[in-house]
Order: sequence, then C-alpha cells, then structure tokens
Amino acid sequence: MEAVGLGKATGKIILMGEHSVVYGEPAIAMPFLATHIQTRITDGPENSLDSIYFSGKLADVPAPLKNIQALITALQEKFQQQAGIHLEITSTIPAERGMGSSAATAVAITRGYFDYQKTDLSDQELLDFVNLSEKIAHGNPSGIDAAATSGPNPLYFIKGQELSSFPMNVDAYLVVADTGIKGKTRGAVADVAKQYQENPAVPELIHILGQLAKDAKQAIISNQPALLGSMMTKAHRNLKALGVSNDALDLLTDTAIANNALGAKLTGGGRGGCLIALAEDLATAKQIAAAQEKAGAKQTWIQGLGVYQK
Ligand code: MEV
Repeated sequence: MEAVGLGKATGKIILMGEHSVVYGEPAIAMPFLATHIQTRITDGPENSLDSIYFSGKLADVPAPLKNIQALITALQEKFQQQAGIHLEITSTIPAERGMGSSAATAVAITRGYFDYQKTDLSDQELLDFVNLSEKIAHGNPSGIDAAATSGPNPLYFIKGQELSSFPMNVDAYLVVADTGIKGKTRGAVADVAKQYQENPAVPELIHILGQLAKDAKQAIISNQPALLGSMMTKAHRNLKALGVSNDALDLLTDTAIANNALGAKLTGGGRGGCLIALAEDLATAKQIAAAQEKAGAKQTWIQGLGVYQK
C-alpha cells in the first residue's frame, strides 16, 4: 500500500515586536486562522513538488524555494530515506506578506513527512526542522514565525526562551490588509542589523519596541483596546524610523486611523506585506477594511480578538 503523510499549519500575525524580537526583546504573535496550508506526501520515483509557485523536480526549484529543498533533504537524512517523495502543497497564506508563509510551509512539510514515516514528532524537533528551513529563507530568524505557525495559542515570545502563551482577551477586532507588495524580510532584517552596528539611535528604538510589546501584553490581559491601539501606532512609527515600512504601509496606516481605527501598524518583516489595524467593533472593522481596499489593499481579513461584550 502506498504511504501517505498529511501536514497542516496556519498563517501568523505578529501583533507587536517584529524586528526587535531578533535582539532578544519580547514579541506577541498569534496564529492567523483565516489562512492555512496543507501538505500531502506520497512515494515518488524521485523528489518532486507540486505547488502554485512551482511544479517539477525538487532539484530544479527556484531560489525562493531552496529552503524547502534543504528541509526535505534534512528530513530524508534523518530517516535515511534513499527513495524519492512527491510533495503537494495547497495554501491560502499569501507568500512573502509577513504572515509567516515560509515558516508555515516548513511546519506543514515537517508534520507531513513525520506522518508519512508514521513517527511521532515532538514540538522541539518540529521547531528545529522549521528553523533550519527559516535560516535559509530569512538569514537570522528569531524563531517567532516557526512558533506562531505551529501552535493554536497567542504567544509571548522571547528568543531562546521557552514558549509562553496567554489569553487573548480584548474586546476588539483586528483588520488585516495585504498591500499586495511582496515583503522583503531577509533584506529588512539584514538592514536593521547593519544599522544596529552603525547608528547609535537604533538600539534605543529596538528597546522601545520591546517595551511596547511588554505593555501591550498588559493592555491585552486587562482588556484595554484603546491603549493597545495607541501602542500599535507608536510601534508603527518606530518601525518606520528603523526603515522597514514603505509608502503603501504608511498609507494604509493613515487610512485605518482616518476610519476610526484605535491604532494600526505593519506586521512581520515589513517593506510590503501586511498591515494590522485595531477596531473597537465589527462595524468599524468592516468600515476600515472597505476603506483600505479602496486605498489599494489587495485583500483584507477580519479576526476577532476575544471577548465582545457590546
Ligand atoms: C518576521 O515575521 C519577523 C521578524 O522579526 C524576523 C524574525 O523574527 O525572524 C522581522
């Protein structure tokens, strides 16, 4: 009988702390359940891939998919598999938009491969394989994308520390808007690292972003959406000062604020990708989403954050 392995993962949203998380500051991330990815692995005459970005031999994948090639090689080495596999990927996570698509792909592949081998996969083993793939995709990943795309809970994440979750307890809605522009996480992370060495203002900006993430956690736990929103807008200004925003993200931030958002910021690596805005109720969230689509957003999503007492 043919062996079949299935794997799944979701997209992710970083609520606070992107970029500063690379420097050991805390960050808040959560799975973004509106987007997901599935993998199906079967025996193949040779390693091959079927996805919307590429179909053919794994040996021939284009540069942006080299992380997948390396991950499959590492998985096959672990299980000493000589024979080929065929990997099918189906995904609704837009690629390179700050939603953790590369990490989610690696999570779903690793899960699918262990399922194909009918072997249990520990959380640590999963994160190790995903981080191997993420190092190729992003250069110097903090590990937040791997953690947020592989679990069901909001995370308070500090690089190198054990994962901790906390209740998402905010009476508000998040509007996620895709600029339609491919984000450039690898380049953005590398540029921030260069500035960190050269520009004395940058370590302080990073520290403030970390402090905002700490304060945001308290605002979430004590259900203070207006406070959380104002921190998000402050974080966006600091990320802009770090050089990781762009005109489209700034326009969508201003559009969200002009349409009664409590706050707005870029999410993920920046320089494209997605923006998140906080709305106090569903009607306002819909108004913000409509205004953002009018202002050029390619797609919008609305995700509730918790309690909804109104
Ligand atoms: C990318 O989703 C988040 C960054 O902070 C990079 C990382 O943490 O690896 C920009």
